[in-house]
This record gives sequence, structure tokens and C-alpha cells, in this order.
Amino acid sequence: MQVPFLDLKRAYERYGQELEEAVLRVLRSTKYLNGPETRELEKELATFMGVNHAIAVSSGTEALYLILKALELPPKSIAFVPSFTFVSTAEVVLRAGLIPFFVDVEDDYPNLTLEPLKEAYELCLKRGFQSVCVIAVSLYGYPARLPELLAFCQEKNLILIEDACQAFGSELEDKKVGSFGVAGAVSFYPTKNLSAAGDAGMVFTNDENLALKIRALKEHGQTKPYFYEYHGINGRMDEVQAAILRVKFKYFTEELTLREKWAKLYEKNLSHLYPKVKMFKHLPNSKPALSLFTIRATRRNELQQYLEKMRIATNVYYRIPLHHQPIFKDKLPLSLSLPNTERLSQEVLSLPFFPYLKEEEVLKVCKAIEEFYANG
Ligand SMILES: Cc1ncc(COP(=O)(O)O)c(C=O)c1O
Repeated sequence: MQVPFLDLKRAYERYGQELEEAVLRVLRSTKYLNGPETRELEKELATFMGVNHAIAVSSGTEALYLILKALELPPKSIAFVPSFTFVSTAEVVLRAGLIPFFVDVEDDYPNLTLEPLKEAYELCLKRGFQSVCVIAVSLYGYPARLPELLAFCQEKNLILIEDACQAFGSELEDKKVGSFGVAGAVSFYPTKNLSAAGDAGMVFTNDENLALKIRALKEHGQTKPYFYEYHGINGRMDEVQAAILRVKFKYFTEELTLREKWAKLYEKNLSHLYPKVKMFKHLPNSKPALSLFTIRATRRNELQQYLEKMRIATNVYYRIPLHHQPIFKDKLPLSLSLPNTERLSQEVLSLPFFPYLKEEEVLKVCKAIEEFYANG
């Protein structure tokens, strides 16, 4: 039996017909942009997130970029970001004319933590750089320490922005991840918790002025027909994607329950392999909506090869942290060592994980991992 990393066909088998009807409805309506599907999706997801404004955009990357752009942050000021994340988190910082300052994550949690952030902030002060914002990523769906980060930002007059691209549906202290900062970005890339049939994303915020500005910016900066007040982008979500997302959103809560079930089964069947296999802790009062189930494993690369031989697909998110990526070379006037990031990038391994997994598949993965360590 082969175990896929992610098999979207199984979701399609379940509600493919509804998806096809939704796509046909849009095709036949000939309303392909800025139509009723997008408006309804925004309303539905704003309610779900408990925020006043949801702005549908073309991807999670553009959601992040539009937030930064709308905030009009001073050029060449510092944005604190993790290095242990997908490239978009810091790519948009460069694109917005800011400087990324990579900050370490916790030793046993894949997200930003206060101590290294304070150190980075102090270094900015000492070197005469103006720091303006923190972009907190909730990696794999594990909520970042958002209340603590927010308190720090408030104390230091920084803006907290959330990269919740991997964490749609996650909760911390009964609040949705993506609703703590001034704005949150979510991705609906096909592998995400709620996924489109292509690229799509959303910005969530309670700030009305920011929402209005982002709405203008995603339409080339247009504030009235053919009048361009800002330098914007073409960042709209297609009606077809909105219609697909509305169908899938009906199944979303149920799918989160299934994700939770498989995560628990992995945890139950792998915990005895500690310390060869470690799993990320759960923050108190958190309900992570995991998009990836990721372990930390000794001899990670060998384990990955072994699992491949056993026809079990896995992936590494992320093998090369961002501070080692060529695009940031010569763009980092300020840096600190990132020991936890370096270590995690050697240890992490994401296992097959999606709502429509089967119990025997999860058990096969766990058994194979157990065998790998039993054999040496
Ligand atoms: C942490 C993180 N940030 C940003 C993005 C960008 O989202 P998108 O692929 O929709 O542009 C992703 C998605 O891949 C992500 O995982």
C-alpha cells in the first residue's frame, strides 16, 4: 500500500459534483470577477474569523504584500520575521521596500518567541535602524504566541501582522489565528486547510481604513472608476475560486475534526519513540488546525529515504531556512545567530496528512517509523 502525502482526489470524490456545479454556475453567469461569490465568501469568512473585514485576494503572498503596502511603512525600516517559514513571509518585506531581520524560533516550537525578538529589537536601536513591524507566522497551523507578541509590539510601538497562511481555522484563547494583529493573511493554495483549485488568499482585519485601502490596492489602487490614487497591483480573487471555496467551506469544520483525529493518532502511536521522534507541543488554550503534521526526527534524511522505500511520501518544510537563501544575500544588514532554526531545518519531516487519510495509512506510517529506529 502506497501512502500519499496529500491526495486531493479523495476530497473531489466526496464533493466534486458540488464543485462542478459551482464552477458551471460562475461560467454561465459570465461574472468572473468582483461578483456575488466573492462578496458572499468574504462575508462568510469574516464571520468565521470574528473580524469586521475580509478582503478576497489572488494569493496568500499578495495578501501579505497588500497589508504591508497599505500600512505605508517607512522605506528601509525593519520587519522582524522568522527564517523558518515559507519564502513569501520575507519576500514581501523586500518587495515593500523594507528590510527583513530574521529572528529565531523556539527550541521546541516552530514559531517566533520573545527573547530573540527582544534581542533583535535592541540591536536595531543600537545600530540606528527603525523597526516597524513583526510578522508572526503560525507554522504548520500551530498558533504563534500571539498575545505575548502583541503585548511586546504594543509596548515597543511595533505593528503585529499575522502570516496565518498555514493556519486557517486555528485558535488560541478562543480567538482565531489571523485575528490578533492589525491584519492577518491566509492562503487558499491547494494544499492548505481550506483550498482553492489554484491560487487564492484573503486578508482579515478589524481596521476599516486599512480594509478600504487594501480593497483599492488590489484593484491597481483605484478609489473610483478609472481613478488611481495609490500604486496598487492586480490582486483580485477569481469568482471561480470564490465559488469553489464556498463549497469547500461547508465541509471545513468536519475536515478540521478529521485533521485533529489523524494528528492524535500519529501522536498516540509515535510518542513512545521519544527522543528519537519528537512532536511539537500544544500551547495551553490552543486548538491548532494543522495543515501539516510534522515530526522532529533524528537521522531525518535517512528516515525519509526509508519511508520512500516503503512507499510513504513525506516532505521537508523547510530544508533551507530563509537566511541562507540567495534572494536575501546582501539584504540583511542586521542578523543574529538562529540556532533553533538551523536545528529544526535538519530535524523536521512532514508526514502524510489530509482529512481523507485512512486509519490503516496512518498506522502504516507509524509502524514504518518504528521499524526504522528498531533496525538501528
Ligand atoms: C507560511 C506561508 N506564508 C505565505 C504563503 C503564501 O501563500 P500563497 O502560496 O497562497 O501565495 C504560504 C503558502 O504557501 C505559507 O505557507
